[in-house]
Amino acid sequence: AVPVVLDVDTGVDDACALLLAALHPGLDLRAVTCVGGNAPLADVVRNTLTVLDAAGRPDVPVAAGADRPLLEDPVDARHVHGEDGMGDLDWAPSTRAPIPGHAVELLRDTLRDAAAAGERVTVIPLAPLTNIALLLRTYPLAAEGIERIVFMGGSAAIGNATASAEFNIFHDPEAAAIVFDATADLGIPLTMYGLDVFYEPQVSALDAAELVAADPTGAAGLGGRLIAFQCERFDADAATIGDAGAVCAVADPDGLQTRTLPVRVELAGRYTRGRTVVDHRDWSGDLTHDPHGQSDVVVDVGLGIDGPRYARLWLDTLRAGART
Ligand code: BDR
Repeated sequence: AVPVVLDVDTGVDDACALLLAALHPGLDLRAVTCVGGNAPLADVVRNTLTVLDAAGRPDVPVAAGADRPLLEDPVDARHVHGEDGMGDLDWAPSTRAPIPGHAVELLRDTLRDAAAAGERVTVIPLAPLTNIALLLRTYPLAAEGIERIVFMGGSAAIGNATASAEFNIFHDPEAAAIVFDATADLGIPLTMYGLDVFYEPQVSALDAAELVAADPTGAAGLGGRLIAFQCERFDADAATIGDAGAVCAVADPDGLQTRTLPVRVELAGRYTRGRTVVDHRDWSGDLTHDPHGQSDVVVDVGLGIDGPRYARLWLDTLRAGART
């Protein structure tokens, strides 16, 4: 199984992603770290523990990290994710507490232990990149334990938080810029699972209802209710699995088509702050001759996806995890 850690701001679709990472037999979920984003940090931590309880994975260590972006005040997305950050489902919250210590320390220790055992972990951030920026700046040697980073965030086209910017990058652009730079410096491959592919894996309200019927109080039931919440909220008969698609891209990389392109995070633009500027110019396979020095961060940008394949992967994993 592929060793993975998730960094989350749970979050309806982070919850979908956690269920998949906790249950998929091809993934070995080693730790989960939390950051303020979709909801305030305390809600994110509670939601994360609740999801892992539902998945029968209280063994996975969870730590709280940054409660705000590096520079700006936090702005959450409860208007999208509900007052409690996870769809206001009235689902019994976990009574557990996170482990002591900061998320960055849990990441450092998990990556160090992996490296010592001759392994490398795939890091999957599904949230503002604050914790990951703090990790790579504070403990750059952690890179020795990182296979690659596959993050949900950014867009090669339109935004969602603003016309230009995707929420996770817009929430903490400085952190994103640090992560992009640091990965280039440290030689860590970076894959961007952005809005260009994010909406394509869709699960129907009917399939969601079947999950709930199969196991109302377990992982399948929770996953089904999270999809149903989104269908109701957007008055649609299907909803994206959202962040869970980035986990699919690790479990089943062939479902995502990427191009390796220079990408920069816009920090200064009045209407474009937080934009991931993806350079689609024809580099003819040579990214080394840029006189303006703007191309030295290259990213595998997800530009094509087999949405039904990833939706099926998510559904099948939750169905298999149902307690019948
Ligand atoms: C992102 O925004 C949030 O609502 C989701 O959790 C996802 O990480 C998409 O922009």
